[in-house]
Amino acid sequence: MRWVMRGASDCLSMPLSVGNNSCMNRPNFLNFKVDHMTLLVQPEMYNVSYVIFRTIFGCAPEHMLYEKRKEWVSGEGDRSLTFAMQVGEGEDVKPEFNNTMIAVVQPSEPKNMRSHVRDMLNSHSAAAHWQHIALRTPDLLAFHQHAQDRGVNFITPVLRDESEDVIQVFTGEWYHPGAPASGMFFEFLQRNPSEELMQKLAERNRESWFNDKTFLGLYGEKESEYQSGKVKPFIDEELFQILAKLVKDKMVWEIDEKIIQAAEAAMLKYGKARKNAA
Ligand SMILES: [Fe+2]
Repeated sequence: MRWVMRGASDCLSMPLSVGNNSCMNRPNFLNFKVDHMTLLVQPEMYNVSYVIFRTIFGCAPEHMLYEKRKEWVSGEGDRSLTFAMQVGEGEDVKPEFNNTMIAVVQPSEPKNMRSHVRDMLNSHSAAAHWQHIALRTPDLLAFHQHAQDRGVNFITPVLRDESEDVIQVFTGEWYHPGAPASGMFFEFLQRNPSEELMQKLAERNRESWFNDKTFLGLYGEKESEYQSGKVKPFIDEELFQILAKLVKDKMVWEIDEKIIQAAEAAMLKYGKARKNAA
């Protein structure tokens, strides 16, 4: 795979470079920050995704910024339409960490060649599909451990993208047992890893990370998953069923701390058993 970097000279031809000789200078009304991302899920996933936000993403009840209900059929009681979880807050002190980016990918393979990107789009009957959301953490290894301990599946080892000075890891896809793969997953990343951290990473697992192959690493991994028809889920089917059993007869607002604790204990137990079996 060949990367052609668009450097500063390209800015000259960009229509939005107004005034100033710096192409980074754009009108303020065009300076976007991620406000929120909206995820559609099947009902089977709704409560389990709430549990995942509470356990894996570390959200407390007060991080649920809203939860909206509606009684569609009179007498049948309220249904939860949507909830929003605050997964982070605050500006980063480092200006380069305040970038907001959208990466666009197309199926660039010839028409007669398999492409997981094309498969994802076609299976959604969609011209566009949000594939992954990248969440930045100040300590990727700590998050990685936390998530692995709770049974989260990652499709890549911790990868390093030297050109961007970032380390990153990609999860399995969000879908529930019996459903086709969704094509939606998370990336977790840390920018500007220190020399010391890179050393630690290299020592911890020599084979599990490699330089400068990040996009190809993810792309290649996804391609082989889609060709084999075995797409790794965010959490194993077995663990999903354990969580679903805990919450399936509840409304999302009825999932209390006792249930969350039981869910997390089950996840830790599952993660431990998996680790021991490896
Ligand atoms: Fe990404």
